[in-house]
Amino acid sequence: MISQSLENGVRILRMDRPDKKNALTGDMYTALAEAFETANDDPEVRCQLLCGHPGAFTGGNDIGDFLSYAGKVEMGKTPVIRFLRALARNEKPLVAAVDGVAIGIGTTLLMHCDMVFAAPNAVIRSPFVDLGLVPEAGSSLLGPMIMGHARAFELLCLGRTFSAEKALQAGLVNEVVEDAEAAARQCAEEIAAKPPEAMRLSRKLLRGNTQHLEDRVEEEAAIFASRLTAPETIAAFQAFMMKKSK
Ligand code: COA
Repeated sequence: MISQSLENGVRILRMDRPDKKNALTGDMYTALAEAFETANDDPEVRCQLLCGHPGAFTGGNDIGDFLSYAGKVEMGKTPVIRFLRALARNEKPLVAAVDGVAIGIGTTLLMHCDMVFAAPNAVIRSPFVDLGLVPEAGSSLLGPMIMGHARAFELLCLGRTFSAEKALQAGLVNEVVEDAEAAARQCAEEIAAKPPEAMRLSRKLLRGNTQHLEDRVEEEAAIFASRLTAPETIAAFQAFMMKKSK
């Protein structure tokens, strides 16, 4: 459900579960984590491109999965946390193409990307608080750095939807373009064609010390895990499942 290919030095990672809006399951997180972990030591991979399908980048974490592991497993050992750690430690340039919905982790992972292309129909939203949860993926640190506290609050705490245009103004998106995937692919190939070591060192300088980011990922995950069993969270998830079953 993550399809992968390597073309012209670009590893294309496609979230490939279109009937469920590419909602991310444990298996999909594991596949993405493995891709990022192996790319760090693979000279063939000079850039990575993350994309979905027209209309769906991703609907976020699979809500059924949330319900199944809430309170039963140690959060630190879940595929999602492995994925978030791999994202924070990823050393290869990462480009995203957002077409349609980018919800929850679909929003927060964009904060780890070096270049983000969004189609005009992009719907960027992170309804963590509405679900009784807290922001994850280091977004509580990266969000205010990228867009300032006020806009980060609006996106991450208030759960307001950012259009492609608004995300562009906020600095989360580089370009709004009808064919986001084609533009992202072209950019990824441009990155891949540059001297790889100079690119690696330059990106590392821009990112600075990532220990704070890794620490924040763990801190958020611990709070997130404790929230999964909170009555308001269970009620919100069950409401989503009920809506589905109707
Ligand atoms: N987890 C599980 N299933 C999901 C999902 C998710 N995060 N996102 C979408 N889906 C499923 C829907 O349940 C539906 O399945 P069904 O056909 O078996 O009923 C299918 O994908 C299509 O979604 P649908 O809601 O019909 O499409 P839409 O275009 O009307 O809305 C979304 C798309 C993404 C806005 C909506 O599905 C949604 O709000 N999903 C939940 C997002 C969320 O809260 N994610 C977690 C954030 S922490």
